[in-house]
Amino acid sequence: MEKEHEKRGHEPDSRAKTVIELHDVWKTYKMGESALNALKGINLKVKEGDFISIQGPSGSGKSTLMNLIGCLDLPDRGKIILEGNDIEKLSESRLAIIRGRHIGFVFQAFNLVQTLNALENVALPTFFQQISEKERTQKAAEILKRVGLEKRMRHTPMQLSGGEQQRVAIARALINNPPIILADEPTGNLDSRTGHEIMHLLVELHLKYNKTIVIVTHDPFIAKYAHKRINIVDGQIFHDHVLEKRFLWSENSNNSNNKRF
Ligand SMILES: Nc1ncnc2c1ncn2[C@@H]1O[C@H](COP(=O)(O)OP(=O)(O)OP(=O)(O)O)[C@@H](O)[C@H]1O
Ligand SMILES: [Mg+2]
Repeated sequence: MEKEHEKRGHEPDSRAKTVIELHDVWKTYKMGESALNALKGINLKVKEGDFISIQGPSGSGKSTLMNLIGCLDLPDRGKIILEGNDIEKLSESRLAIIRGRHIGFVFQAFNLVQTLNALENVALPTFFQQISEKERTQKAAEILKRVGLEKRMRHTPMQLSGGEQQRVAIARALINNPPIILADEPTGNLDSRTGHEIMHLLVELHLKYNKTIVIVTHDPFIAKYAHKRINIVDGQIFHDHVLEKRFLWSENSNNSNNKRF
């Protein structure tokens, strides 16, 4: 079993389960009289164990696509299937539950609550769970430790560097143990070195805990961390590039297992 996952962690596996599927997805923004086609017939499969980058110029539709992959928005045409469910057929509350269980989000601007410290920010998504305050805090502390912030738990976002704030945001995305992490320009507000440190953390989560990762970036050096690279221009995928994972991150190649974060 372990071997099977190790294999899956390093080579594209056509048998891997599809977790999110987009079929001929269109998104149109209506502005008064005019309509803007932000996405035009996107077909995409995110499979378990994928590490995908979505690249493209500003305004090409990357964030719109990410919001749809994350089921935060509905398409105007086409279908989105999350874990076998056609999301259009789900009630809003049911969709919120399935999404919360499966997907963790990371944003360019970190989106932390400024009045809460790191520990409280990370614990926030567990608020509606039937667990005690103590358990919640313990869980948050453990995840902050894993992202290297054990000494920053009581700091508010203002008292943290950009890279540290993004680590807190990643810890928050992980607290409910989702198998999928979606990150829209996670390094966009960081200097290049800190950006690469954040990417190393995402690679580690991918290799050690088998997280499926999709990142949006306009930076080709950041896109290189992914084994599937998608280019989007003017709302359409025009290039889809797949690399064998064993050519990437080879120094970490013995770390893979199926432990959850
Ligand atoms: N809520 C909205 N209402 C109207 N138009 C929108 C809306 N959101 C996005 N757009 C338009 O849709 C297109 C795609 O936007 P999107 O935010 O997906 O681009 P992007 O590739 O993420 O760009 P960036 O790299 O600048 O973040 C753009 O032309 C944008 O102006
Ligand atoms: Mg964007």
